[in-house]
Amino acid sequence: MAIEKTLVIIKPDGILRKLSGIAIDRLDNAGFEMIGAKVVSVSDELAHKHYCELANEPFFETLMKFIQGEFHDTYKKKVLALVYKGENVIEEVRKTVGATNPEKAEPGTIRGSFGRVSTKGYYENVVHASGNAKDAEKEIALWFKPGELLD
Ligand code: CDP
Ligand code: MG
Repeated sequence: MAIEKTLVIIKPDGILRKLSGIAIDRLDNAGFEMIGAKVVSVSDELAHKHYCELANEPFFETLMKFIQGEFHDTYKKKVLALVYKGENVIEEVRKTVGATNPEKAEPGTIRGSFGRVSTKGYYENVVHASGNAKDAEKEIALWFKPGELLD
């Protein structure tokens, strides 16, 4: 199995609810190696590039606002972007993160423990994690410059 890298983002709901520490703790305890970290104020351009494959989904415009912190007002509407490296890390991190819908995520996962469905209908699922190798490569290149990773 090849060594992979994956992108994790503590989303604006996770920042507002002070869940960065516990999310990182879960990832630490699962044994993943962090090789990059930065706080980012997400621009409209970054939001669109990151989620471009979902552009035709009915929730896309809401997702653009959500990831830019429009619904969770924190200092500079920041998120925390992280890169983890390891064997099969993309799939393994997804297991630790849990299903997209926090109501369907396993209780012990990050989303299952701390996520909720907003009363407005969108998911406040605390963290993003790359879905596959192609997405991970694209996303890491989008969020990080090569020199910003311990690689
Ligand atoms: O994040 P993940 O890869 O698990 O799910 P996705 O299908 O790639 O969707 C990206 C994000 O869109 C989700 O994490 C949610 O924040 C949001 N979403 C939503 O709010 N409502 C949905 N029905 C589906 C996705
Ligand atoms: Mg996805």
